[in-house]
Amino acid sequence: MEPTQTLALEDIDLSDVEFWTRPPAEREGAFLTLREEDPIRFFAEPQISEMFPPGRGYYSLTRHADVVEASKHPALFCSGSGTNIPDMPTEFLEFLGSIINMDDPRHARLRRIVSRGFTPRQLDAMKSDVEATAAGILDEVIERGEGDFVTDVAAILPLRIIVDLMGIPRSQEKFIFDRTNVILGLADEEYVPDQTEGGIMTALLGAAQDLTLLITELGEARMKDPKEDLTTALVTAEVDGEMLTPSELASFFVLLVVAGNETTRNAISHGLLALTEHPEQRDRWQADVDGLAPTAVEEIVRWATPVIHFRRTVTEDGARIGEREFSEGDKVVLWYSSANRDPAVFDDPFAFDLGRAPNDHLGFGGPGPHFCLGAHLARREITVMYQELFRRVPDIRAVGEPVRLRSNFINGIKHLPAEWTPRAAS
Ligand code: HEM
Repeated sequence: MEPTQTLALEDIDLSDVEFWTRPPAEREGAFLTLREEDPIRFFAEPQISEMFPPGRGYYSLTRHADVVEASKHPALFCSGSGTNIPDMPTEFLEFLGSIINMDDPRHARLRRIVSRGFTPRQLDAMKSDVEATAAGILDEVIERGEGDFVTDVAAILPLRIIVDLMGIPRSQEKFIFDRTNVILGLADEEYVPDQTEGGIMTALLGAAQDLTLLITELGEARMKDPKEDLTTALVTAEVDGEMLTPSELASFFVLLVVAGNETTRNAISHGLLALTEHPEQRDRWQADVDGLAPTAVEEIVRWATPVIHFRRTVTEDGARIGEREFSEGDKVVLWYSSANRDPAVFDDPFAFDLGRAPNDHLGFGGPGPHFCLGAHLARREITVMYQELFRRVPDIRAVGEPVRLRSNFINGIKHLPAEWTPRAAS
């Protein structure tokens, strides 16, 4: 997709919700203008509600090198004051964000504990057969020849994998799906019909509370009666004599289901859209499904950039990025979506090229302590999903406009009509 530069620099306002409903090519055009003309531009924050005064505004890092620089220096650009743009009370930060909203040493301590449950070996050892799960999902729809690719296919795989890994009954899948949609789709009426401040808060806290109750009960059950699942690994993991507290477990679970579901789902959905729009790339992958998979999956994550940004907060006066000097408390926003189109790093950045190498995208975050814990799992899920699709429904394609999520944080597709030649379930 080629960007269209319809907005002059002074007319770009990343804080305006309407900006995020503009067509993708226009948004790409605006970020292109920012990278070229003012790569660390300041934006004021809007007054979201009567209750909360507007924050102090934020500097927008739009170039790849600057996003990397901030990610690499967590002591100067920290996560503990929040990683979304609006400021939140401290209790909320941990409740909703767990380790993503923490700094070392606490972040490192908790990440060490949860990583124990997350090594490739640990994941392999658990009953998470990604291939069989992906095949089962296709079986449920394959005879129909049409469907909503997002809700029938793309959203189900990461959800089912997390549910199976954690040892949660599959009957709870829909319950978790609905709550993660609320948490990451707060600005979207489809998920939160009451768009008043009170309505949004009630929906957010209610969804997080529901997930907390579910995992607390399960964690208690596993303490008494351990099983071969990630919940057991998490409640029994010990690092230097320390274990997760019940509230740390609950917050980590909320992060896991939210971070693990919405992101991978959107990578898979954007993948089908891009393959439909670039038939030559689709033919190329189809001709060498396994061989091209490693680079193709990275390109899908770069192309989709499911997480549009995260924020950091400056910890001391004089911290710098390039020539720009910041003051303590300044907020900087790391626009991964923009970094992933930076021509300083990517040749022909607006081309969808499944063989792209090198591909130093920041889709899983920049280098640093918060690099995505689930990157290995996500890559595996995307790879397997496309292997199954190419094998079982090779002519699957998007046949209508995607319905996009209204968000400046998640590059979401809510619905994507698709068709394929019907086949018998296996
Ligand atoms: C394509 C799929 C995915 C994308 C694009 C993605 C993206 C990201 C990004 C950008 C970060 C960095 C946060 C920061 O720097 O503040 C992150 C962190 C994280 N991700 Fe992912 N993610 C994906 C899949 C997953 C999966 C499948 C899981 C788990 C099941 C997961 C769990 C996490 C966790 C726990 C963190 C926090 C790490 C920390 O703060 O130390 N992610 N992810």
